[in-house]
Amino acid sequence: MPYFSGLRILITGAGSGIGALMAEKLAHEGAEVIVTARRKEAASEVCERIRRHGGTAHPMVLDVSKLGTFNAFRERLHKAHGPVDVLINNAGVVFGGEFEKVDLKDHLNTFQINATGLMALTHAFFDDLIQSPRGHLVNIASASSYVGLPYGSTYAASKWAVLGFSESLRLELKERGLDNVSVTTVCPSYIDTGMFDGVKSPLLSPMLSPEKVVRAILDGMRQREPLVQAPMIVKHIDLMKGTLPMPVWDFLAKATGMSTSMKKWRGKH
Ligand SMILES: NC(=O)c1ccc[n+]([C@@H]2O[C@H](COP(=O)([O-])OP(=O)(O)OC[C@H]3O[C@@H](n4cnc5c(N)ncnc54)[C@H](OP(=O)(O)O)[C@@H]3O)[C@@H](O)[C@H]2O)c1
Repeated sequence: MPYFSGLRILITGAGSGIGALMAEKLAHEGAEVIVTARRKEAASEVCERIRRHGGTAHPMVLDVSKLGTFNAFRERLHKAHGPVDVLINNAGVVFGGEFEKVDLKDHLNTFQINATGLMALTHAFFDDLIQSPRGHLVNIASASSYVGLPYGSTYAASKWAVLGFSESLRLELKERGLDNVSVTTVCPSYIDTGMFDGVKSPLLSPMLSPEKVVRAILDGMRQREPLVQAPMIVKHIDLMKGTLPMPVWDFLAKATGMSTSMKKWRGKH
């Protein structure tokens, strides 16, 4: 039986990018997916594609910046389909540019969607995960959870927050003996989905294909890995930052193009 068979999986921001692709692959492997997006049409299109291939998918509208709507959303979901086994917090935004030239509203929105919304939604569905014999929380963070990201400071800050949140919950679940629930934090560098159009990938960190990243996420979920990091260099950042003197690290960040990668960010729009 495929590993994901029998699991009901809720994915945020699944109307495009790796969220949509995860939904398709998970449904293909037997999961019942709740495809959420802030636009109904986006979620419905993904579900139609899944159903055409024989999978089970339900579209639902969910804006993760609207924290006050989560309880009503959970009730609607429970009534229509039942509790979930897996929550994949995937929705995210980025606004690149020189710090003071990006609207404060966009900076704050970045944090609200990528971090606060993710935490509040996890809170809303944590009981579901605890009640499931195979509960799993998957948080899509980023390679920028480990490094400063010039021209993308609030994005990096939001992803540092996600890593700290995930790591803490993972340890808390262990501490409480809730071994039925796994936590996987996903930290990829740039992925070719359009979100980071215009960036220049740093040395040793080529633009990743969405297919490759989604394959790594699903493998990580099957193995119940605490961390999925891609490419390889991301696994070594902590050690390098922890051991190299700061000026050497700063030099490397500049020399590899990490410090300037976001300088020409355009994004999707
Ligand atoms: N692309 C990369 O290089 C990269 C690298 C590391 C990590 N990540 C992370 O991977 C995740 C997926 O990104 P992606 O690359 O697949 O880009 P994407 O296609 O832009 O996916 C992001 C999704 O989040 C949705 N979203 C944005 N604001 C939302 C809100 N308030 N409520 C609900 N959904 C919302 C977007 O919906 P709309 O279409 O309605 O805006 C979109 O479907 C994000 O968390 C991102 O930070 C991406």
